[in-house]
Amino acid sequence: MASRLLLSFLLFLLLSLTAAHKHNLKQKYSHLHFYFHDSITGRNATAVPVTKLAAGAHPQSYFGIIAIMDDPLTEGPELNSTLLGRAQGLYAATGQEEVSLLMTMNLAFTAGKYNGSVLSVLGRNQPLHPVREMPIVGGTGLFRFARGYVLARTHCLDLDTLDATVEYDVHVIHYGKILDV
Ligand SMILES: *[C@@H]1O[C@H](CO)[C@@H](O)[C@H](O)[C@H]1NC(C)=O
Ligand SMILES: *[C@@H]1O[C@H](CO)[C@@H](O)[C@H](O)[C@H]1NC(C)=O
Ligand SMILES: *[C@@H]1O[C@H](CO)[C@@H](O)[C@H](O)[C@H]1NC(C)=O
Repeated sequence: MASRLLLSFLLFLLLSLTAAHKHNLKQKYSHLHFYFHDSITGRNATAVPVTKLAAGAHPQSYFGIIAIMDDPLTEGPELNSTLLGRAQGLYAATGQEEVSLLMTMNLAFTAGKYNGSVLSVLGRNQPLHPVREMPIVGGTGLFRFARGYVLARTHCLDLDTLDATVEYDVHVIHYGKILDV
């Protein structure tokens, strides 16, 4: 297992180096900042639960719930501010004692210089904690070979409706050009 991981890592490194060499490119660091809006209730819900609560777990952990989302990402905290893209994927409540979500999502940008590019995020999100860190595991378009992390901070959360606005700070290393490799 460990040696397979090491092999994958070395292969990744080799591919990255080859791509960089071929295009004489340097990696760059980018910081993206936007707001994520998750609404799981009401007429305009952008996330839909597709499973039921598991019996026996702490009800406030929501253990067993999986929701599919297509959540807007906006420039400012207001839902009506400029739309930058959408977070499409799912989150699964995987903690039995407290809310602890497995996030599997694509941040698909639809405006600005990253229009058409995607960042893939796979991580752990404990929404009641002040800051959550999630890894960026890859990307497409301008984000090919991307790696980095997301810091998510709740901007507002309605405990009745569970609607949330979350501030996202994305720190990503990528080439900033579409590599043809
Ligand atoms: C749903 O969206 C419509 C159209 O944007 C808006 O007029 C309405 O107020 C929204 N409803 C709720 C409950 O947010
Ligand atoms: C966005 O909505 C807020 C109220 O929530 C309103 O005050 C503001 O004018 C709206 N902005 C735009 C650009 O429509
Ligand atoms: C994003 O790219 C698509 C496809 O090229 C284009 O149709 C759309 O107008 C672009 N959106 C913005 C906001 O620039």
